[in-house]
Amino acid sequence: MIMLLLPLSLAVSSASASRLRHQALQPAFVPPPLSFSSRSASFPHPLRRPCTSLFGLLDGLQPTDNVSQLSDEVLSGAQLSPESVKKLLANGVKSVLNVRAAIEPGYRDDSELCEGENCGYFHSAVTPFDWSRAKVDGILATVEAAPKPIFIHCAANIRSAAVAVLHEVKSGRLSEGDAVSKAKMINDRAGGLVERYLKG
Ligand SMILES: *[C@@H]1O[C@H](CO)[C@@H](O)[C@H](O)[C@H]1NC(C)=O
Repeated sequence: MIMLLLPLSLAVSSASASRLRHQALQPAFVPPPLSFSSRSASFPHPLRRPCTSLFGLLDGLQPTDNVSQLSDEVLSGAQLSPESVKKLLANGVKSVLNVRAAIEPGYRDDSELCEGENCGYFHSAVTPFDWSRAKVDGILATVEAAPKPIFIHCAANIRSAAVAVLHEVKSGRLSEGDAVSKAKMINDRAGGLVERYLKG
């Protein structure tokens, strides 16, 4: 039912069989300000039902993995076990974006894991302390360029949830006006980060 409501882009998103090499994308430029679409795609997100699987992307994950699926192309979550990441990749996820800083406790580089599964691995760090518009725009450019579906993660699905929601806004699947409340469905602090960006 939910699936029927989703404004799917029918194109199988960049499902090209291209083999992705490991790449650490550091955005080399600050893209121009985003032009937000006013189109409102008010479809229900199963954000608080972590293992409700749309498109099978969450198959095999545990409820405690807390992965949020925002659309057919974007998932966000915390730092998962390598086994859970492998399940996402087996389910068709084509990119992993880690937005954690390498100095954070528990940081893990999954580039080898992704390489073994022909998935792109991207690392572009941001913290609540350097959550600037320029920085987030660089990360959003990485998200846009990466093969989809993409799994964006940080430590606790706060920064990554905010990035994922902002990508949905940029993609026109979510209105700017709905962005903060949508992020708050995942985490109040993610809502705060989205608000900071939009006000920035
Ligand atoms: C998911 O949320 C629960 C409850 O807050 C927490 O104990 C668990 O560590 C989270 N899982 C991940 C992968 O962060």
